[in-house]
Amino acid sequence: MKKILLTTTLLLATITISQAQRQEITLTDNWQFSKDRQTWQTVSVPHDWAISGPFDKKWDLQTVAIEQNGEKEATEKSGRSGALPWIGDGVYKRNLSIPSGFNGHAELVFDGAMSEPVIIINGKEAGRWAYGYNTFRIDITKLVKPGDNELVVTLRNLEESSRWYPGAGIYRPVTLVLTNQLHIDDWSLFVRTISISRDKAELEVDMQLNNKDEAGTPFVRPVSVESVAILGSCSFSLLDANGQEVASVAPKNVRRGNGIRAKLTVKNPKLWSPESPYLYKLVAKVMVGEDPIEKTSKIVDEKTVNVGIRTVRVSREHGFQLNGVTRKIKGVCLHHDLGPLGAAVNKAALIRQIKILKDMGCDAIRTAHNMPSQMQMDVCDSLGMMVMAESFDMWVYPKCKNGYARFFNDWADKDITNLVKANRNHPSIVMWSIGNEIPEQGSEDGRLIATRLQGLCHALDPTRPVTQGLDHAEASIKSGVATGMDVAGFNYRVHKYEKSIEQLPQGFLLGSETASTVSSRGVYYFPVTPTDHGVHPDGQCSSYDVEWCSWSNLPDDDWVWQDNQDWVIGEFVWTGFDYLGEPTPYDGYWPSRSSYFGICDLAGLPKDRYFLYRSHWNKDAHTIHLLPHWTWPDRKGQVTPVYCYTDYPEAELFVNGKSQGRIKKNSSERLDRYRLRWNDVKYEPGELKVVVYDEQGNRGGEQIVRTAGKPHHLQLDVWTSNSNQGGVGGGLHADGEDLAFITVSLVDNKGTLIPDAADQLTFDVQGAGTFRAVCNGDATSLEPFTNPTMKLFSGQLVVIVQAAKQEGNITLTVTDRQRGMKQKVVIPVN
Ligand code: GAL
Repeated sequence: MKKILLTTTLLLATITISQAQRQEITLTDNWQFSKDRQTWQTVSVPHDWAISGPFDKKWDLQTVAIEQNGEKEATEKSGRSGALPWIGDGVYKRNLSIPSGFNGHAELVFDGAMSEPVIIINGKEAGRWAYGYNTFRIDITKLVKPGDNELVVTLRNLEESSRWYPGAGIYRPVTLVLTNQLHIDDWSLFVRTISISRDKAELEVDMQLNNKDEAGTPFVRPVSVESVAILGSCSFSLLDANGQEVASVAPKNVRRGNGIRAKLTVKNPKLWSPESPYLYKLVAKVMVGEDPIEKTSKIVDEKTVNVGIRTVRVSREHGFQLNGVTRKIKGVCLHHDLGPLGAAVNKAALIRQIKILKDMGCDAIRTAHNMPSQMQMDVCDSLGMMVMAESFDMWVYPKCKNGYARFFNDWADKDITNLVKANRNHPSIVMWSIGNEIPEQGSEDGRLIATRLQGLCHALDPTRPVTQGLDHAEASIKSGVATGMDVAGFNYRVHKYEKSIEQLPQGFLLGSETASTVSSRGVYYFPVTPTDHGVHPDGQCSSYDVEWCSWSNLPDDDWVWQDNQDWVIGEFVWTGFDYLGEPTPYDGYWPSRSSYFGICDLAGLPKDRYFLYRSHWNKDAHTIHLLPHWTWPDRKGQVTPVYCYTDYPEAELFVNGKSQGRIKKNSSERLDRYRLRWNDVKYEPGELKVVVYDEQGNRGGEQIVRTAGKPHHLQLDVWTSNSNQGGVGGGLHADGEDLAFITVSLVDNKGTLIPDAADQLTFDVQGAGTFRAVCNGDATSLEPFTNPTMKLFSGQLVVIVQAAKQEGNITLTVTDRQRGMKQKVVIPVN
């Protein structure tokens, strides 16, 4: 009894000093950045120091054989990692202001810093991390003092450390977290759905308290966790989207070691799914007391996390199930860069990506080949997008000279731990991936590592299956790697699926990477030739969607397996959007510097292929899309095949009113099951019209494509995250970060796109915002993204403007000097 009273007194003393609740401060502005420690520039974080270029083949010029592509001889690869200046050292510094009287616990949470970040506080190293893609926490309690402190972050990027553009700098947010000394260990709070039935859901919550500084520091008074065990309590409260409490529990006897575990029962739960991404909030509170005099307990820490109630299961009988319902994953792989924004994460840009993908009918992304940002996962939670969260592109055996293999042995477990702990509350994440095309997949070493990493994922999160992307089906089955995974993921080589499934004890497999079809928006070559080695003098790929890589295939080839076999549980197409670097099939052709794999281009504009996927994946809306464009002054009388991508099974095509035949999808030819093709159409200017019919032969709709007349004006279409359908209506948030994406198209007087326009445009932004970047989707363009001028590519480009922190209007003026055209748009910022 005496001991308890004594502790109480001590405890109260501490509490009166550090009453304040937790503060989570995002460190956005007023960073100083330098490459040489001589000249400094004021920047905001997220920041990518390399994205402004200039593009130059000298950056990371690699003379290598890309083994994954089956190359045996080393050749010069110019744009492999984006041809941008991301190599070298960089330093960031900033003042860290700690409130006066603060005597609690302080830590910094980095969501990712490229790469090898070392964190220095007031001249002393506080901690470091190796991998540029992971989130990590640094305890700075003992190094900071109330008032001003200096935070320095050094970074180092080695050449030949990446197969794509990694970006450079502090490209994801940094958060300063201040709590009482006794606090909730952030990543220990873990909420999961144990079971769901029609009228209730059981959730389990884990939480751990920290009080690492019990020994005390000059400005910290100790409170032991044991004293909380005797005196304290905590509570978990689940709130619905209206903030109403729907379940709560207050477990007593907070204990050290195994922490706190509690159960919550939710009546009539609203389940999370891509179609209905309902989010609850869990509020965890830690109280100490009771105060013997006031008879009240005091909250020492409080933390809120989003919760989506849902279950994930994979099984031989039912394949992949979300909430007990079998579904095939209609996924795409995404690299982390945001095209012209580089690696610097931005919420509006992430929302735009996810909305574009959702409209295509896509329900999942794979974060290839590394840890996602928290911001992206938050967006996926709230918009409804399932995620395969990946970790590594290599283990011990290097895929490039200075890649992650340098760190794997020392860091892999720490990296998986942070990936899983930091992200396991995101309902969007349905699967962990421990690697992509790991060279060790065919060996006993590989099996041991896979077993260890998968086991670690299970230990930290018993609710999700684990996979990896395997590119050697036979070898990985023989070694026991494929057979030992919760989900065997196979990259490409669909012709091996059948043989593989016979040997997989799981009874199902995933197309962890599919297609790798290449195309350039609005570019068509004749004759139309399906090929796995198509290269053209202009460094582009055919938008007829008939070109792929030697190791890969066309979308149609994947769908045959996805549709015919229950045991194929879905696919992740390579890739949803073009990305910087890896300009296959032009790895050795300068000036190619970004990919051609995207369903959308680097600017986020849909290529024709977008509508092919949409026609097959989107079951809520019809798709009727014709290609190519119909402005071919040099092709009069020449065969110009026409394709229609539609969910309707049948259609009739007309050229200037003359029928070109009514045809039906059929399985006789590789490309006729999912596309409607008229291969013998002779071009004549005028009007191309398609009329589609449903299964019963009823007319479903039509689409018309016209030959463009003379260039008449610039058309500006604004997208903001604020307005669901896009459009100026919603305006931007005056937060200094929100972005508007303005698609600029050169059109004739009827609004028909001038499909080959390459006019040089300039951009002027006035008012409550700034010009941020521009991109035309041309993988061979060397015009910097951050200069306010660029050529149109296939008649279009996208300008990105950024809101200021003040309300007002942004006026963007786009000028085409060559034609004496000017167009303005006003975007409200509020
Ligand atoms: C895969 C690889 C991807 C990308 C792709 C291109 O083998 O996993 O990272 O390189 O090929 O087709």
